[in-house]
Amino acid sequence: MCGIFGCILKNGEAAPTIHGALKRLEYRGYDSVGTATLHKNKLFIKKDNGKIDEVHALHDLDNLPGRIGVGHTRWATHGAPYQENAHPHTDCENQIAAVHNGIIENFAELKMELEERGHVFRSKTDTEIIPHFIEEEMKEGLTLVEALRETVKQLDGSYAIAVVSVKEPDKIVCVRKESPLVVGIADNDVYCASDIPAFLPMTNRYVIVQDGEIVVLNDEGYEIWNILDWKQVTRNPEIVDWSPKMAEKQGYPHFMLKEINEQPLSLRNTLRLQDQYLDLMTTFLDRAGEVFLVACGTSYHACLAASYMFSKLALLATHPVIASEFVEQHGKSVNIDSTLLVVSQSGETADTLATVDGAKLRAATVLALTNVVGSTLTRVARVYICQQSGPEVGVAATKTFTSQLSVLSQLALRLAKMRGKISHVEIENLEEKLEQIPDIVEKNIQTQKEKVKQLAKKYRDKQCFFFLGRGISSAVALEGKLKLMEIAYAPSLAYPAGESKHGPISLIEPGFPVIFICPKDDTHKTIVGNIMEMKARGASIIVVIEKGDEELKSLADEYIEIETGLPEVLSPIPFVIPLQLFAYYMAIERKCDPDMPRNLAKSVTVR
Ligand code: AGP
Repeated sequence: MCGIFGCILKNGEAAPTIHGALKRLEYRGYDSVGTATLHKNKLFIKKDNGKIDEVHALHDLDNLPGRIGVGHTRWATHGAPYQENAHPHTDCENQIAAVHNGIIENFAELKMELEERGHVFRSKTDTEIIPHFIEEEMKEGLTLVEALRETVKQLDGSYAIAVVSVKEPDKIVCVRKESPLVVGIADNDVYCASDIPAFLPMTNRYVIVQDGEIVVLNDEGYEIWNILDWKQVTRNPEIVDWSPKMAEKQGYPHFMLKEINEQPLSLRNTLRLQDQYLDLMTTFLDRAGEVFLVACGTSYHACLAASYMFSKLALLATHPVIASEFVEQHGKSVNIDSTLLVVSQSGETADTLATVDGAKLRAATVLALTNVVGSTLTRVARVYICQQSGPEVGVAATKTFTSQLSVLSQLALRLAKMRGKISHVEIENLEEKLEQIPDIVEKNIQTQKEKVKQLAKKYRDKQCFFFLGRGISSAVALEGKLKLMEIAYAPSLAYPAGESKHGPISLIEPGFPVIFICPKDDTHKTIVGNIMEMKARGASIIVVIEKGDEELKSLADEYIEIETGLPEVLSPIPFVIPLQLFAYYMAIERKCDPDMPRNLAKSVTVR
């Protein structure tokens, strides 16, 4: 997720306005930043990797001439955060500058096409193909807006793009598909941005650009065109009544709730990973003598779930290990035949990085899954995949967890295919279900919110909670427990439901809340027995079930229905959503700050 911004000012210099806007968009990405302005038919560009303040201190982002310009604050997905990968990107003649938020899935083949036509690329990004495509189209005599329209017809993926050109120095053209884009309208000036906070100090009048629409900003204001039928669209401005702080959270009260609701988008982006990286990592896994899945916290829960995926789909036994225990538990056994798939959202967790160092000293192969391109983990791993979730501001991992599960399930599926362990029919079915997950998650978030909010109110004063699941759902139980503990400070226990009678059940008293995660999979029939054991001792039974599971509804005191129709290996993604929401609303009920829970940090960089 990145932040784009553009402005046309009646008077004054655009650069300081762009700088201020990018600062307000910094929560959308902060590993590189850049600005391009138009002045006397020339482009002026400053860009570099680093946080906005760092780049400004080095280059003075306010000092660029011209009243028209675009800017970008980056969260790298393609190409590490180096200066040449920072936006804006330009064409061969430095006459066109483009900024982009999103993921262009087919950029590799389009880039080759352009290179064959003589275009020279300076970056590793997917974005850079945009100005070169526009250059081609304008050479054919198209106007800037026509050229952008023809360009996006070639693009697969998601984008919000803003472009300026010295050939039409009085306008900005912008376009969107899936990535957000809004236009801000002030008395004399007009803006385009990824999000309202960018221009909120200047105006609260805005227009949302819809998918498939292209916008021309000029001194008269804005024109919206439909890309398909090329008809102009009339859309009057609306007024936003958010405070700037609220606006950063897109109107949500907390980043955590915003990020829970962002999961459909982040999951769509996670389905847009480049095949070559997934295939390369799959090949390493296929050749491994033994595979360890290593992480901390929520990322460890993703590894635990992945161990079921690799086993059930690819018949590969993997060993999920908590990073801080890895050396004690396996340090001596790691060797050249060992492969570690290390998972870390931040890519900076000290316990996880220490494991990597130790394993590499013993000649093991280290693969990595992270959300931060340019993080330490990406530099020490032999191969890494960036999960493309965008920045996660809330301390509690939510959207990055479901993205990790999506990537790990894609790897397990590719490995199964590579090893011929499951039929083509099964593979096609699983691939189809994977594509459905973002919509399934979107639907479940909307339908569950109110019910979960009521449950948090009902159980607000309980002193301890159990989270139980069997099979792959035991990983979901652990994640639900961690969420509730870390942001609502509610003591909780989680373990495989079959373990109840081996001790923990002694804690059960009448009214003790026990949350069961019960997808309709092979464990469904056995978990009924565990529910009955708890029920017999007076526990308050809360079940997270597939929609229409009348048997478990009849046994429970409360239930949350999940509409999925997903195979068990993909069930953790929708089934964790109500547990994320439960933890969030419980934190609100208990007057805790969900975004900044006490004693915790977003990235634990100490051992
Ligand atoms: C999850 O909600 C916590 N913030 C924490 O457990 C986190 O998952 C853990 O510290 C690992 O972080 P990483 O994924 O950045 O390595």
